[in-house]
Amino acid sequence: MPDCVFTIKVCVISVCLQVPVEGFIGGSVVLPCSSAEHDLKLQDINVLWRDKGSETVYDIIKGKDSVERQDPRYKNRAETFPEEYERGNFSLKLINLNHTDAGEFNCFITHSSDSKQETVWLFINDSTAEKGNKSTKQENQEPGTQSDWITIVLICVCTIFILLFAVFIACFIIRRIRTQAPYIGGTVAN
Ligand SMILES: *[C@@H]1O[C@H](CO)[C@@H](O)[C@H](O)[C@H]1NC(C)=O
Ligand SMILES: *[C@@H]1O[C@H](CO)[C@@H](O)[C@H](O)[C@H]1NC(C)=O
Ligand SMILES: *[C@@H]1O[C@H](CO)[C@@H](O)[C@H](O)[C@H]1NC(C)=O
Ligand SMILES: *[C@@H]1O[C@H](CO)[C@@H](O)[C@H](O)[C@H]1NC(C)=O
Repeated sequence: MPDCVFTIKVCVISVCLQVPVEGFIGGSVVLPCSSAEHDLKLQDINVLWRDKGSETVYDIIKGKDSVERQDPRYKNRAETFPEEYERGNFSLKLINLNHTDAGEFNCFITHSSDSKQETVWLFINDSTAEKGNKSTKQENQEPGTQSDWITIVLICVCTIFILLFAVFIACFIIRRIRTQAPYIGGTVAN
């Protein structure tokens, strides 16, 4: 049943194929996003980076950087790697991180022959770069961040199981209806 396999694939990809990335307050991170295709014609490609509120973080339009519609929050804080575009690497570097940056980032690649979305989860680790007072700070804050992780993993796992279960039930019912219909017809005829 290719329908079912396809449904499972789409569900798993949309729910759980999120790359977790850890950043530190005041630090920087590279949010990964790349296309599997390598011989890219840059003028054919658009890459849209959006944050959890669908605000514009960065745009690459027809292979050229564009910050016209960039949300002011990301002004001078987001950069890409133009020398990497040809290799299909549209990763985004965010600098001077703050708590408000935590959450989901989406990268939409649209290309003449294919389009694709990647989701990155940015976690902000509360410990700053300074080392002096780490112990007390971390003891208070680590459980919170760690339980965030556990919650997300649990939600993912549960969602996958529920989806798999629903899809298998649906497949089973569809298959039963399909195989039973002629059989019932047969018995009635006899
Ligand atoms: C983070 O944001 C808060 C409130 O918006 C601000 O007070 C603080 O200075 C910011 N920290 C950094 C490292 O930019
Ligand atoms: C993309 O480029 C950035 C910056 O050079 C690098 O850190 C990252 O590893 C590259 N990603 C891939 C998939 O090559
Ligand atoms: C935050 O960063 C510190 C220092 O690198 C690390 O020891 C700690 O495990 C991190 N906390 C989380 C929740 O990842
Ligand atoms: C560590 O924290 C204490 C109080 O919380 C403060 O008095 C002290 O100066 C701090 N030390 C460093 C190295 O930041």
